[in-house]
Amino acid sequence: MENLADRLLAIMDRKDHWAWPAFLRPGLARAELATHFRHEYHTYVRDFPIMLARVLGLGPPDDVRRTLAANVYEEQTGGLSFGVSHPDLFLEMMEGLGLDRVALSSPEGLVPEAVAYRAMLDRVSSRPPWIVGAAVLGIFVEGSVNERATLAGSRSEPPLEEAIALHPLVRHHGCPPAAMRLVRAHRMVEGGHRQDAWNAVLGHAPAARGAHDAIVAAMDEALALWLSYRDGVARAMGLVRQ
Ligand SMILES: [Fe+2]
Ligand SMILES: [Fe+2]
Repeated sequence: MENLADRLLAIMDRKDHWAWPAFLRPGLARAELATHFRHEYHTYVRDFPIMLARVLGLGPPDDVRRTLAANVYEEQTGGLSFGVSHPDLFLEMMEGLGLDRVALSSPEGLVPEAVAYRAMLDRVSSRPPWIVGAAVLGIFVEGSVNERATLAGSRSEPPLEEAIALHPLVRHHGCPPAAMRLVRAHRMVEGGHRQDAWNAVLGHAPAARGAHDAIVAAMDEALALWLSYRDGVARAMGLVRQ
């Protein structure tokens, strides 16, 4: 029997979308970037701290309460980094790109797949068991396709200043490095969030096979809805699969 970590990592290996390379090279217009970032803001960036707080409200064990509370505190206040919430640091990055804060804040005209992805995030964060919400938010949403290497400690990241200079928004889209404090904050705290999320899920998943299956099923659903969400955004941006 495959263990739970392997099953979840196999899902994270697939958190990758065909349109992603377009975000790593020059060529996207401001309006296209705005479409992408407005969707990211409304699907999870703005309300991520609230979703985490809902999982805390579902009453996980004490060690998980503590790490979730610390995560909520940082995401909503930036109290462990710059004293600015992560959603606001995101908007700071948008201003660096020359995108309008008010236009980004409008939830009008999201593609239906984005609404479906968001509805799933609201559902898993609101309903027991807490461990499903913790997995989907802490591992799937906050994590990336690099999860396996990150967890194994084999992912080598360039030094922070170099990472910011090489960031596509700075390198190709003219965002001033000073507007990239979100990347700095994540370098300060996100390693902890990754480890906490895996500890919460792997440390508390009941040994019963059925519980593992429920977590894996929710993560599978998250992946399917995310891929469809990214398809919808690519369509709205006019990107075509090669
Ligand atoms: Fe964050
Ligand atoms: Fe985080």
